[in-house]
Amino acid sequence: MEQSDRAYQRALREQLARNELTFAHAPIGQAIVELDGTWRQVNGALLQMLEYDEVELLAMTFQDITHPEDLDLDLGLLQQTLAGEITSYQMEKRYFTRTGRTVWALLSVALVRGLDDEPLYFISQILDITSHKKQVQALQDFTAMLAHDLRTPASVIAGFAQLLSTGPYDDEVTSIARRIERASTTIVDLLENALTTESIDSGRLTARPTALDVRDAVGTAVQAALSAAEMNEQELEVDTSGLVPAVAWVDPVHLEQVMTNLIGNARKYGGPHVRVTTQVHDRRVEILVEDDGPGVPPRFVPQLFERYSRAQEARTGSQRGSGLGLYIVRDLLTANNGTIDYEKAALGGAGFRVSLPAA
Ligand SMILES: Nc1ncnc2c1ncn2[C@@H]1O[C@H](COP(=O)(O)OP(=O)(O)O)[C@@H](O)[C@H]1O
Ligand SMILES: [Mg+2]
Repeated sequence: MEQSDRAYQRALREQLARNELTFAHAPIGQAIVELDGTWRQVNGALLQMLEYDEVELLAMTFQDITHPEDLDLDLGLLQQTLAGEITSYQMEKRYFTRTGRTVWALLSVALVRGLDDEPLYFISQILDITSHKKQVQALQDFTAMLAHDLRTPASVIAGFAQLLSTGPYDDEVTSIARRIERASTTIVDLLENALTTESIDSGRLTARPTALDVRDAVGTAVQAALSAAEMNEQELEVDTSGLVPAVAWVDPVHLEQVMTNLIGNARKYGGPHVRVTTQVHDRRVEILVEDDGPGVPPRFVPQLFERYSRAQEARTGSQRGSGLGLYIVRDLLTANNGTIDYEKAALGGAGFRVSLPAA
């Protein structure tokens, strides 16, 4: 009896020592935090990251050194953990160091409860992701700069190529001009979508809604699709007889981009028949874009609105694209209190139903 008791004691002590060492020497910040946010125990990695010495940090709370913009989210999640709604959480947040630098961290928090389920303390793991964040930011800035600065010259090339292709020149010049026009239009569209994606990623996408007859945006997008079809020597008929006056509350630039993408897709992957109809009911404006092509392959439907996703058929086909279009479309609509759903179209192919608040 005494023998096994001692063995148990030894095993326990050894485990405690092991935990202690793991905590102290972890390469990432680790801490035990009181329920009120006071640091109870912190490891070397955390002290180094935050530039404090132990005595200083233990006299503070995590709230004291959290960036004000990240505090509410952190406290909210903490509250949910205490209330038992969740058992742990993860978030990206910023801390201020002793010298006033801002560090980005990936924070994981778990609540330790006692035998009667009463909350005891939190265990936090804090990974410094500052350099990763900086790299991502630099890449985003670079992409935005590139897309922005290339858009104007690419539009100029597309415009002049179009002029050339419709001018009184011989067939060879006309055919070359058309190829330049097609290629440069693809570049303009890609850049447009890249810029919008960047503004979504950086959280700068804001809608400036006005009361607007959606037929304006539909008309512009239909014209763009018709001229793209001509340029690609492709048959395309767009039925707009089902357009009724429909005034929605939406950002005009956003709606045009949505319609250009949807009608552009109908031209690229569907057709030759495309139909656009509008409806107003229940204080909502609905726009339905249908085509009579093969439709979206059923197994691809769950990924349809994901970024960079294209169906196998599209990737191996002749139509170029980035797979950003529908991802952007959905985000633009969300920013305008709108929705989009895919359905099998009455026309036989793909159907995209957009819903927006009526003005
Ligand atoms: N009208 C449609 N008919 C069939 N498939 C479509 C249609 N619209 C979109 N898709 C599929 O969804 C994918 C994603 O579309 P999108 O996000 O606009 O990207 P992209 O046009 O650049 O490929 C397309 O590559 C295609 O596989
Ligand atoms: Mg597209």
